[in-house]
Amino acid sequence: MRTVSVPLGARGYTIQIEAGLLPGLGRSCRRLKLGRLCAVITDQQVAPLYGEQTTNSLRAAGFDPVLVSVPAGERAKNLQTVAETYDRLAAHRLERKSFVVALGGGVVGDLAGFVAATYLRGIDFVQVPTTLLAQVDSSVGGKVGVNLKAGKNLVGAFHQPRLVVCDLDTLETLPEREYRSGLAEVIKYGIISDAALFRRLEREMPALLARNRRLLKGVVARCCEIKSCVVAQDEQEGGLRAILNYGHTIGHGLEAISRYGRFLHGEAISIGQVMAARLSQRLLGLPAAEVDRIERLFIAAGLPTKLGLREAQKGALLEAMQHDKKVVDAEIRFVLAERIGRVRHSQAVPERDLNEILTTARTHGSAAAAS
Ligand SMILES: NC(=O)c1ccc[n+]([C@@H]2O[C@H](COP(=O)([O-])OP(=O)(O)OC[C@H]3O[C@@H](n4cnc5c(N)ncnc54)[C@H](O)[C@@H]3O)[C@@H](O)[C@H]2O)c1
Ligand SMILES: [Zn+2]
Repeated sequence: MRTVSVPLGARGYTIQIEAGLLPGLGRSCRRLKLGRLCAVITDQQVAPLYGEQTTNSLRAAGFDPVLVSVPAGERAKNLQTVAETYDRLAAHRLERKSFVVALGGGVVGDLAGFVAATYLRGIDFVQVPTTLLAQVDSSVGGKVGVNLKAGKNLVGAFHQPRLVVCDLDTLETLPEREYRSGLAEVIKYGIISDAALFRRLEREMPALLARNRRLLKGVVARCCEIKSCVVAQDEQEGGLRAILNYGHTIGHGLEAISRYGRFLHGEAISIGQVMAARLSQRLLGLPAAEVDRIERLFIAAGLPTKLGLREAQKGALLEAMQHDKKVVDAEIRFVLAERIGRVRHSQAVPERDLNEILTTARTHGSAAAAS
């Protein structure tokens, strides 16, 4: 088993990465000396696949789990679902020593983590991420939360898990489009801090698309190491942690103007990362050849890199970006790349440049329409 540690002192924890980990989940939880009562929060798609295996493992280790299954998808990541989940926890009599297991993708992880952060002013939780995106990104780092109508992740907390269990077997059932969407975050780690990882992805994309286990283990572990390293230096996003948002300013804007319907998160940030690379070329001198390599790698992963935006949609996108949490004093800040493997955060981008990049994206083609 590969393990990556997240060194946060008393809040530190381990990430386990291997195929076939789910049956051992209960034993791993035992070692953490957690209370007997627990809730496995999952969604209606994941529950029939891994719900029983998870509760069985917990029961076999002496725990008393209740399975709470919420509707699948981003639209369920809201305060209404949180309220309904609290009621289920209360009905099962969870108390201060009890814990939550988040079994699913990033939606379940963010939602269940937020429930754990707030129920009884905070109880322990364990992440069992079952999407590629969740294994390499959302399950690590302690950011939890839900969406409001006004925007994504506007209500939340920092609440670190006690353990993260990445069972690579669970990726087998992941729909192709979801898997590719997760690859957008994988590629992001190469761009923000590891040129060697980026080259490896260029070489091995076909094997990665075929979900080769040995490769996946190495790649997931490397991504977790990078995220862990960033989070350890800047747990609450005072500065450095912002680099994890490379491609996300435009990506979140796209998700918002399509009302979280048209794009998967990874697809939106794929387009966002290519646009951010173009901005980087203008503003930080990222070589044109590297912009091309970035675009080619997203294409090789089967992700969209272009966008057909009508003039009105462009306005809506700029407006949506203004509402992003990363805005400081009304100025949109970007993470931009100097080279593949090295980025700078908090870069101001003149509106003129942003406008031109969005216009270029449109004239380049219309691989994906915003609505
Ligand atoms: N907290 C963070 O730091 C952080 C970072 C990145 C993204 N996020 C959040 O993560 C969310 C996106 O996560 P996601 O892409 O995992 O989406 P998701 O949780 O909606 O999962 C995608 C779909 O796959 C299904 N699914 C999950 N695992 C499966 C499996 N093993 N087999 C078959 N189907 C499976 C789910 O039911 C869902 O329909 C967004 O809400 C985003 O804001 C959070
Ligand atoms: Zn992301």
